[in-house]
Amino acid sequence: MIFGGKGTIGLDIGSSYLKVVQLKEKKAGYELELFDMLPLPPELIVEGSIIDSLRLVESIKELLKKARVRAKNAAIGIAGHASVIIRRISLPEMSEEELSESIKFEAEQYVPFDVEDVNIDFQILGPKEEPGQMDVMLVAVKKDIINEYTAVVKEAGLNPVVVDVNAFALGNMYEINYEIEPDKNVALVNIGASTINLNVLKGGMSVFTRDSSIGSSTQTEVLQKEFNISYENAERLKKGEAVEGVSEEDVQAVLISASEEIVGEITRSLDYFRSTTLQEEVHEIVLSGGGALIKDFPALLAERMGVEVKIAEPFRNISIPSKFDTTYIEDVGCMAAVAVGLAIRRLGDR
Ligand SMILES: Nc1ncnc2c1ncn2[C@@H]1O[C@H](COP(=O)(O)OP(=O)(O)OP(=O)(O)O)[C@@H](O)[C@H]1O
Ligand SMILES: [Mg+2]
Repeated sequence: MIFGGKGTIGLDIGSSYLKVVQLKEKKAGYELELFDMLPLPPELIVEGSIIDSLRLVESIKELLKKARVRAKNAAIGIAGHASVIIRRISLPEMSEEELSESIKFEAEQYVPFDVEDVNIDFQILGPKEEPGQMDVMLVAVKKDIINEYTAVVKEAGLNPVVVDVNAFALGNMYEINYEIEPDKNVALVNIGASTINLNVLKGGMSVFTRDSSIGSSTQTEVLQKEFNISYENAERLKKGEAVEGVSEEDVQAVLISASEEIVGEITRSLDYFRSTTLQEEVHEIVLSGGGALIKDFPALLAERMGVEVKIAEPFRNISIPSKFDTTYIEDVGCMAAVAVGLAIRRLGDR
């Protein structure tokens, strides 16, 4: 770590909040070194594309300053939209080395773009029932989108050492915080402002992922229209704060009906998971992202899905020094799920 500064941060570049997390690896596990967030104006990142890179760079710099980040290395994440393809495929059994050599060729039929335009990664999930076959998780991310995000991060003075996929970062967050039960299917659902990341774990192993281009900004927009108020005021209402001329009951009613669309999307994604896995059930939903903080939303989802819904605690197994405001971490911790997952990635990780 001669040029690395002090460690690696997890930087989650969301469309409505930047989040930064840094962890220290100790003998007994992880310790929190730093956690902070910064709201972004809604027009900087649209559908996963960076629209105003200058202002985004400024915002990242502002967050780094506010959080007193001294690290120079950053692990960042990218969401699905149209730029990330994740597929579970079946291939003849071979070693990891062999697959490294042939993955580009194998990927060609699953990736709807030129394979030269994507970065490809994979994970061997294990043997299949049919002899001689194995299950592989194939990940292809468009180089364009990687370049777009790494350019901004570099411009902000950081060294982007890892580019992960948000859904997998969620899986890493889960792994360090929760006991893995071999027979349990857990759906990690991260509701951001404009994306829902889904990662279904079977015995701790990712078996299905899907990103949807809908998120908690749906509720913001409905509130804005319904009460004819600004974006800022709609955001206040979502957080349970009062806004003049709007009654709390009306807000609750509007929020619930706006939430149906999100519940519907999660239902469809999980139905799709079932249809691709011979009707395997999801036993538990672990909810994260800012969308999980909307009052009554977790209960609504639990009722509709008939499945237990828990709010993610990304810092559950991370020791928190006394200088941190634990109430803040309890209140908004679930928004840090992706950032925590990114923060445990290291330079040299695949
Ligand atoms: N305390 C809160 N109560 C309710 N909603 C909240 C709260 N804090 C944030 N939100 C909502 O959560 C959303 C932001 O969540 P999050 O930070 O996970 O999204 P993001 O990562 O910026 O978006 P994306 O990943 O989709 O690009 C916003 O729509 C915001 O209104
Ligand atoms: Mg997000």
